[in-house]
Amino acid sequence: MTFSILVFLLLFISIKCSADHVTDSFINCLTIRSRNFPITGIVYAPNNSSFSSVYHAYIRNPRFNNSTRAKPSLIITPTHVSHIQNAIVCAKKHGMQMRTRCGGHDYEGLSYLSFEDTTPFFILDMFNLRSIDINIEQETALVQTGATLGEVYYRIAEKSNTHGLPAGVCPTVAIGGHCSGAGYGNMIRKFGLTVDLIQDAELIDVNGRLLDRESMGEELFWAITGGGGASFGVIISFLFKLVRVPPQVTFFNLERTSEDDILNIANNWFQVANKLDNNLFIRMTFNVINNIEGIKTVRATFPSLFLGNTSTLMSLMNKCFPELGLQDSDCVEMSWVESTLVYAGFPVGTSLDALLSRSQQSERDRPFKIKSDFLKSPISKHGMESIFNKMKELKNQMITFNPLGGRMNEISEFAKPYPHRAGNLAKIEYETYWNDTGTEAENQYLESTRLMYEHMTPYVSENPREAFFNYRDLDLGVNYNGENSYEEGKVYGVRYWKEVNFNRLVMVKSVVDPHNFFRNEQGIPTIWSKFQDSASFSNHG
Ligand SMILES: Cc1cc2nc3c(=O)[nH]c(=O)nc-3n(C[C@H](O)[C@H](O)[C@H](O)COP(=O)(O)OP(=O)(O)OC[C@H]3O[C@@H](n4cnc5c(N)ncnc54)[C@H](O)[C@@H]3O)c2cc1C
Ligand SMILES: *[C@@H]1O[C@H](CO)[C@@H](O)[C@H](O)[C@H]1NC(C)=O
Ligand SMILES: *[C@@H]1O[C@H](CO)[C@@H](O)[C@H](O)[C@H]1NC(C)=O
Ligand SMILES: *[C@@H]1O[C@H](CO)[C@@H](O)[C@H](O)[C@H]1NC(C)=O
Ligand SMILES: *[C@@H]1O[C@H](CO)[C@@H](O)[C@H](O)[C@H]1NC(C)=O
Ligand SMILES: *[C@@H]1O[C@H](CO)[C@@H](O)[C@H](O)[C@H]1NC(C)=O
Ligand SMILES: *[C@@H]1O[C@H](CO)[C@@H](O)[C@H](O)[C@H]1NC(C)=O
Repeated sequence: MTFSILVFLLLFISIKCSADHVTDSFINCLTIRSRNFPITGIVYAPNNSSFSSVYHAYIRNPRFNNSTRAKPSLIITPTHVSHIQNAIVCAKKHGMQMRTRCGGHDYEGLSYLSFEDTTPFFILDMFNLRSIDINIEQETALVQTGATLGEVYYRIAEKSNTHGLPAGVCPTVAIGGHCSGAGYGNMIRKFGLTVDLIQDAELIDVNGRLLDRESMGEELFWAITGGGGASFGVIISFLFKLVRVPPQVTFFNLERTSEDDILNIANNWFQVANKLDNNLFIRMTFNVINNIEGIKTVRATFPSLFLGNTSTLMSLMNKCFPELGLQDSDCVEMSWVESTLVYAGFPVGTSLDALLSRSQQSERDRPFKIKSDFLKSPISKHGMESIFNKMKELKNQMITFNPLGGRMNEISEFAKPYPHRAGNLAKIEYETYWNDTGTEAENQYLESTRLMYEHMTPYVSENPREAFFNYRDLDLGVNYNGENSYEEGKVYGVRYWKEVNFNRLVMVKSVVDPHNFFRNEQGIPTIWSKFQDSASFSNHG
């Protein structure tokens, strides 16, 4: 007994020491290679008093505050591209792994935690690399990946009140993860995804080379505009084509609490939301509240953006969607940049400086779990009733329907890795937030979300049941311990990208990173692992 504890301790100490040894050799290598641009002040080891605050600064889901997954041995905060090139070369040489983090919004914490406990890893934290260069003559934005969406919106508005970038609705989300994962926002029906507007990109590959679109080639460029950056390299910047927006747009957000009304409105929403004028985006969100009698009831909200003025909007709504009951007085006209704040939940009149804040809105600072689905056809009233009943039975369920259609129908499903275009009515997002701490509470809420998802099966896409890659969900499958097996990868891969695009991503990966240095629990596997899979079968047996 005592003997086995001793053996265990010795084993533990030797693993620990070799990990420290790896880290120290890595730092040495980095120091030597970075003589021209010294690494002073950019490397944080766990024995440094600032390590914890740097580590936590970009954990956007407190669910992972106390995670039992492997944590980084180092955080590197590059201030120069050469730091990244050297970090990759030294990491390969000394057996370190890495995770690139930009905004830290990954729903499953993959940019700062790892399932691999045998290989030490560092976080490459990109927050220092966030320059934004807006060129109004060319109508472009050259943006380093550490910038947040809010910073980009703010810098565009500094130069022009008639330009915008179609991207996500949360200002603290960063360009790196968001744009390499597709980018969904409230102008999608008019302009498509953020990736549909990317013209060029800079990436550092597994050999430490800095490449642009021309030198990386169209296949790799295609892959990093929707297949995620983390499987292919470190993306330094994207060049976006800006879009033209009117000087004034119109925002409204209606709330309805009578379930009969809601069922009727939802019924009509399913008929029109993806067919309305492309300038109009009406989101539909349901959650459960207690009414004055203390009885559980469903509440619906409709946060919406119209790229035009109130009078045009009213005539459209009266013609196409009178059931919603929109009034002139519900509508607020404002500049597009103001609408990005208001849509994110800030009160009308909030100073634009709020877009520059890199810290999370406090209400979001609670543990959460998110899942997604794609809706191909309307859900009947009867179906919605059963969904509402399920929501009331479960804990803290919130369901949002995001309309598609419009421009999305005009772009081929092979143009970018994201395949959920024509034929989709809406993207569904399931959100569960909770306040209680501890794993017991967490497991209850996770279970609730999974039961809700199960209940939705008859209403949503099937074979495959599609999912949105930017809404990362480890329930869809995981590649453990860096194996990145083709068979395991295919399980989540076909759901995020469908078969044709997934296989194309696998081919790109196999060529540009054949030894799978850039990996994570939901990375793109190489085709080589397909042969390995069958080989290792006999090994295991
Ligand atoms: C509050 C909130 C609101 C959101 N709203 C939206 C929305 O409106 N629309 C939408 O589409 N999505 C939305 N998302 C999802 C979001 O787009 C993704 O979580 C996205 O991946 C976040 O990017 P990030 O850089 O902030 O996250 P990170 O956690 O830093 O990165 C996410 C992934 O990308 C990789 N990565 C990051 N930067 C790079 C890089 N430079 N090179 C290579 N790989 C990189 C990471 O390694 C990780 O795998 C939201 C998320 C949250 C938490
Ligand atoms: C912690 O690391 C940072 C970044 O390398 C460095 O600037 C700082 O001096 C270190 N602090 C201590 C107490 O060593
Ligand atoms: C802190 O940790 C780093 C990385 O392991 C190591 O190189 C350094 O010597 C440590 N510093 C102290 C004061 O222990
Ligand atoms: C998570 O940790 C950070 C840093 O320690 C802290 O600021 C935050 O309040 C924590 N959140 C929760 C929900 O524990
Ligand atoms: C609203 O916009 C329409 C179309 O651009 C325009 O014809 C109309 O004059 C505008 N109405 C007001 C009140 O500004
Ligand atoms: C959870 O916390 C949020 C934000 O602090 C608060 O608005 C909400 O009422 C709380 N919910 C419950 C069920 O306690
Ligand atoms: C993490 O642990 C700390 C200390 O036990 C606790 O205060 C905190 O609430 C926990 N955070 C979460 C998100 O569970």
